[in-house]
Amino acid sequence: MQKLLENRVAVVTGAGRGIGEAIARRLAGEGAILAVCDVMLDNAQQVATSLTKSGTKAGAYAVNVTDSKQVTEVCDKIVADFGRVDILVNNAGITRDGLLLRMSDEDWDAVLGVNLKGAFLFTRTLSRTMLKQRSGVIVNIASIVGMVGNAGQANYSASKAGLIGFTKTVAKELASRGIRSNAVAPGFIQTPMTDKLSPEAKKMQMDFIALKRLGLPEDVANVVLFLASDLSSYVTGQVIAVDGGLVM
Ligand SMILES: NC(=O)c1ccc[n+]([C@@H]2O[C@H](COP(=O)([O-])OP(=O)(O)OC[C@H]3O[C@@H](n4cnc5c(N)ncnc54)[C@H](O)[C@@H]3O)[C@@H](O)[C@H]2O)c1
Repeated sequence: MQKLLENRVAVVTGAGRGIGEAIARRLAGEGAILAVCDVMLDNAQQVATSLTKSGTKAGAYAVNVTDSKQVTEVCDKIVADFGRVDILVNNAGITRDGLLLRMSDEDWDAVLGVNLKGAFLFTRTLSRTMLKQRSGVIVNIASIVGMVGNAGQANYSASKAGLIGFTKTVAKELASRGIRSNAVAPGFIQTPMTDKLSPEAKKMQMDFIALKRLGLPEDVANVVLFLASDLSSYVTGQVIAVDGGLVM
């Protein structure tokens, strides 16, 4: 049977672990060629090696998504290695939580830098390749916190709300050139990012999740696959929550 992404080239940022790794594996499972990007090269290499072992063409790329020069260089390298780019998943993200009055400039800048500027830099660079191809798909990993806010996450929620606005603008600017742009807004997903939360915080979240379980990285990856494939060819500028019914 024909796979959904046979031979399409997918770039996933922050793919060395967590949700990004699950996305890389899911897209690879549907035949995509993978550029596994992460600031932690060892992790990216492990993921790329394991994909290669299971028959996927994959490469690991070290990049700090906040660094314009590094992003340009790594994108050039990916295009040189694989010849094209069909799918970009802006997944790299960090948290530096704290209450507003105590939030430092550094914590604000760090979170906005990775979560928002990083997506801007990758999208600006790779959309040039997509424009030449007159096709491409961009999926941004936002968060429900970008839709409803969350005490202690002024920087994070602003970055994710910004990412949602960015997603819609890119959708409007590039639709006529065959490029779609959508966002996924995960709720509470079990990854190293959320492992650091206290048991009380986890229980409090659970009380509000209609499906009464935490999400798995694969739950997010399945929706990214839908948005990255032709199954969603008439969908652009949308935000799909993957949160077990936490926000509705
Ligand atoms: N886990 C959740 O519950 C949850 C909920 C909503 C949204 N998200 C979003 O999903 C995405 C993935 O989160 P996760 O839970 O897998 O986190 P994670 O911390 O497990 O993984 C994030 C990955 O991004 C990489 N990264 C961080 N800074 C980077 C940089 N400057 N350049 C390149 N790579 C960088 C890290 O090395 C890591 O591999 C993030 O954008 C996050 O905001 C997660």
